[in-house]
Amino acid sequence: MTRYQRLLLELPQTPATWLITGVAGFIGSNLLETLLGLDQCVVGLDNFATGHPRNLEEVRQRIAPERWARFQLIRGDIRNLHDCRQALIFVPAATGSPPRPVEHVLHQAALGSVPRSLEDPIATNASNVDGFLNMLVAARDAGVKSFTYAASSATYGDHPGLPKVEEQIGRPLSPYAVSKYVNELYADTFARNYGLPSIGLRYFNVFGRHQDPEGAYAAVIPKWIAAMLRDEEVFINGDGSTSRDFCYVDNAVQANLLAACAGTEARNQVYNIAVGERTDLEQLFRKLKQSLAKNGVRYARAPRYRDFRPGDVHHSLADIGKAQRLLGYAPQYDLQAGIAQAMPWYIAQNLAPAPGSSWPHTQLAAR
Ligand SMILES: NC(=O)c1ccc[n+]([C@@H]2O[C@H](COP(=O)([O-])OP(=O)(O)OC[C@H]3O[C@@H](n4cnc5c(N)ncnc54)[C@H](O)[C@@H]3O)[C@@H](O)[C@H]2O)c1
Repeated sequence: MTRYQRLLLELPQTPATWLITGVAGFIGSNLLETLLGLDQCVVGLDNFATGHPRNLEEVRQRIAPERWARFQLIRGDIRNLHDCRQALIFVPAATGSPPRPVEHVLHQAALGSVPRSLEDPIATNASNVDGFLNMLVAARDAGVKSFTYAASSATYGDHPGLPKVEEQIGRPLSPYAVSKYVNELYADTFARNYGLPSIGLRYFNVFGRHQDPEGAYAAVIPKWIAAMLRDEEVFINGDGSTSRDFCYVDNAVQANLLAACAGTEARNQVYNIAVGERTDLEQLFRKLKQSLAKNGVRYARAPRYRDFRPGDVHHSLADIGKAQRLLGYAPQYDLQAGIAQAMPWYIAQNLAPAPGSSWPHTQLAAR
């Protein structure tokens, strides 16, 4: 039995209180579904800058009502210290039950995207650095048991080494990368000076259910699937050789739970969270096309090539040995398996838009 399998059995026996910041976002809402499914009590904090009520609504529909009742949503902003402090107290829905302090923080809230940060570095810094610092101060003062935060593979910057090992980083290539590196420096400083136990998870291109396909800053997998479902052109930035270590979201959920419950020897460090496999954009294009075909959707267009995107690293591949050794991380999904899991969701979304959703604009064309 893996450490994660054991944890999944143990957690419902000892329900804890959790805070997920960025709960209405892609990774946050997947964390919420897993934790509620394990009978945990969860506070969610989000300002809905890039997250969506429809993600929470979908979780509600998949979760039993008595479990959903253990979720408390705070519409607030990590740029506001008061909101961060408020989110560290779980107030049960049932009247008469006393409020309880949050024990574990899973800090996901941030403005993602390298291009967004190049266009508006001040906004990125405000949420990703000021907001992060607010969360650290609030968590320190509340005396939480663990503080797990979303770091990023962007921190490797221009370091040419492959696979990426945690100790060897280069210069950041974007304000987003700077902000994520600053998170690591602050977390380390808070561990040394105040004893705040933290773990940073350097995610590598996470994908899956609830990832937004819309907008200029959408990630490649949801963006391409949406384009293919609409029979629109798919653009490849560069010559197609750019490669990534794509990580299905359930692997990232696993890493968060393992990190929150990790022993002292694993704390106050950062870990690569990926699969340890590299796929270039040409291969990704083919895999998505094949998966759609398996689901009865034919996409016949060839991709269109355009310039490389500024701020992007060319290749990315994780060494996940440290997370395997110290956290017991054992990714359950490779790219192929993750796409197979995610595809029916994307297809269903495209056919039946959620109320209030801006996506899709068109019905799936019959082909
Ligand atoms: N998805 C990836 O591939 C990836 C890779 C590396 C790192 N990360 C990091 O993982 C975390 C989650 O990413 P995601 O892909 O789920 O993104 P997302 O945009 O779907 O989720 C982020 C959530 O944070 C919320 N948020 C943003 N600013 C906020 C603020 N000031 N106050 C309160 N809430 C705020 C948004 O509304 C959103 O719900 C982020 O920190 C991101 O930088 C993601």
